[in-house]
Amino acid sequence: MALPDFSSFPLYLAPMAGVTDPIFRTLCKEEGADVMVTEFVSAEGVLQAWERNRRYVEFAEEHRPLGIQIFGSVPEHMARAARIITDAMHPDFLDINAGCPVPKVVGKNGGSSLLKDLPLLQRIAAAVVQELGNDCPVTVKIRIGWDAEHICATEAAQRLQDAGVQALAIHGRTRSQQYGGRADWDIIDSCARSISIPVIGNGDICTPQDVQRARETTAVSGVMIGRAAMNAPWLFRQAKEYLHSGIIPAAPSPAQRIAFMLRHTRMAIDSGHYGEELVTMRAMRARLLAYAKGIPGTKPLRPRLSRVASYAELTDILGETGIDF
Ligand SMILES: Cc1cc2nc3c(=O)[nH]c(=O)nc-3n(C[C@H](O)[C@H](O)[C@H](O)COP(=O)(O)O)c2cc1C
Repeated sequence: MALPDFSSFPLYLAPMAGVTDPIFRTLCKEEGADVMVTEFVSAEGVLQAWERNRRYVEFAEEHRPLGIQIFGSVPEHMARAARIITDAMHPDFLDINAGCPVPKVVGKNGGSSLLKDLPLLQRIAAAVVQELGNDCPVTVKIRIGWDAEHICATEAAQRLQDAGVQALAIHGRTRSQQYGGRADWDIIDSCARSISIPVIGNGDICTPQDVQRARETTAVSGVMIGRAAMNAPWLFRQAKEYLHSGIIPAAPSPAQRIAFMLRHTRMAIDSGHYGEELVTMRAMRARLLAYAKGIPGTKPLRPRLSRVASYAELTDILGETGIDF
């Protein structure tokens, strides 16, 4: 178990609850993503009902190098949950969530609320590092602060490095920004310069040029791509080729994009990850809408895509684009 090779400027698929399930991870790996992080799992949930929570963090060997992400607010519980997960799953690294803005997580003092109590964040990280020892490296994902008046990324970075964390992912927004506004890459850059462990930059990476800009103009050791990958998983492949040769390979044609949507849906149904077909289609709707953005002729079909209930119906709807897929 080890961290990825940062000398190659790895491209991470960002952890996204409800999105980066094992099927999507497989597809992103095929499209060139170097490192993956699972959807997050609650440390309390792990301690209370590990078998029920295990499905959030299951992964295939081909997804490696992969980190499993946990959230929580009690150092001893986080350490015990990290131990259970590491012994059962043997991830390449264990990632602590200190960025999630959703009330369900923040209300229990987890996720981004840890940015309001940096000594607690440091104690959590130190407890997990101590528990896992040499068994598994520990990383943390933070935002730059709670709000614009309380930017604390540099202090958090120093404390986490002191706690023995081996890499840090920084989403360049505050908790208050949620997903709005622009990610602040100046703060990400100054954090990366202030510590010696690798920093992975995150936020608004949407094109191969964005990836290159991050590599050329900041001190980050890799980037993490979230929402843009939902719309265009081939971004990883395009960005890698661009970094390598300066040439951006063409994006898939509309017909290829539709074929990709159908394949993803088929894989999701066949895997049974979400349950029966209707339940799977419900889980897929947001995904299909994300893929459809930019495919000509899909705009009037969006209301139907948002209610699609079977694979057969999806094929019919996409057939109405007039695209030969
Ligand atoms: C639907 C969704 C779910 C997310 N779930 C998680 C999560 O479980 N853990 C986490 O650390 N970040 C989570 N994030 C945040 C992303 O990892 C990432 O930091 C954020 O989307 C910014 O990157 P982007 O601009 O490339 O999308 C989530 C984001 C979205 C949109």
